Amino acid sequence: MRLVLGIESSCDETAAALVSLGADGARAIVAQRIASQDEAHRPYGGVVPEIAARAHVERLAPLIEAVLDEAGVGLVEVDAVAATAGPGLIGGVMVGLVTAKALAMAGDKPLIAINHLEGHALSPRLADPDLRFPYLLLLASGGHCQLLRVEGVGTYRRLATTIDDALGEAFDKTAKILGLGYPGGPAVERLAGEGDPRAVPLPRPLLKSQDPNFSFAGLKSAVLRAKQAAIHADADIAASFQQAAIDCVIDRTRRALEAAGTVSALVVAGGVAANRAIRAALEELAGEQGLRFVAPPLALCTDNAAMIAWAGLERLAAPGFAADPLDVAARPRWPLDPQAAPVRGAGVKA
Ligand code: KG4
Ligand code: ZN
Repeated sequence: MRLVLGIESSCDETAAALVSLGADGARAIVAQRIASQDEAHRPYGGVVPEIAARAHVERLAPLIEAVLDEAGVGLVEVDAVAATAGPGLIGGVMVGLVTAKALAMAGDKPLIAINHLEGHALSPRLADPDLRFPYLLLLASGGHCQLLRVEGVGTYRRLATTIDDALGEAFDKTAKILGLGYPGGPAVERLAGEGDPRAVPLPRPLLKSQDPNFSFAGLKSAVLRAKQAAIHADADIAASFQQAAIDCVIDRTRRALEAAGTVSALVVAGGVAANRAIRAALEELAGEQGLRFVAPPLALCTDNAAMIAWAGLERLAAPGFAADPLDVAARPRWPLDPQAAPVRGAGVKA
């Protein structure tokens, strides 16, 4: 059995986890802890990088200690230390990565620098041992909205990304416009449940477009105009926004499935995968295409360290594994598919 300690600190969740992989392929989250910083950022309506970095400094070491204690293991029993090395808010990434380096050095363990997106991309295989490569992944979070053909550990082909806002960001901005607070996704979903999704006419950017990418900025601006017009109930705006977002997601995913060739499943990951209406629409699309639909449990969708530990285990178990050097850099930007063409406006979200 192999045991990897994972550390996540790229945004506003400080997290540590121990994940194991047995010789028979059995996988388990042995222990995990997450400290959310929602309270600290709520007054600002979004994540403040400096506040996040300081909170990681205060919380990370005790969290790691608690995880090791809960599992009843010492650092000597851990086979490798994996940490998010990017992309993300660089101050936070540095806190997690430097902590992992210190532990790797002190325990003489291999260091594995994980791309946060790779953590999201492989997390469905932690929950579902039957999920085989290649699969089509919709990765939708606060910072990213991509469609990836996940071909194997370390091989990701990006078929689409957003040219402006990420999907989670669109939910967060809609929440802000409607005065629902931060983080916005769950609040918008809740309110949408009380509204009429056909009440407010909203645009569906890039729907049916030959351009494979996502765009949500125009939708967000339309939500702002709808709110300012003061004609519709907030619940109707929320429901109409969510429906427009779903229509875009399904259209783009259908197009990516056409371009992807053979895949074993349609998979969704990232914080937005917690949205039940989006999950249901994707499941319907998968059914229509005769594909399996895989969505990890909600706790594995939002940022967590188990997915980082798991990505570390996948790397450790892959042929030709090599540990990362202790001078590996923290990267604010780190595209998962280095071959993917740059996209206008995508910036950090690519
Ligand atoms: O993956 P994640 O925890 O962090 C990032 O890497 O960004 O994703 C957080 C994002 C936020 O934008 C949040 O509003 C969104 O996921 N989110 C949701 C829901 N739960 C979280 N969006 C829509 N519906 C939800 N239920
Ligand atoms: Zn994330």
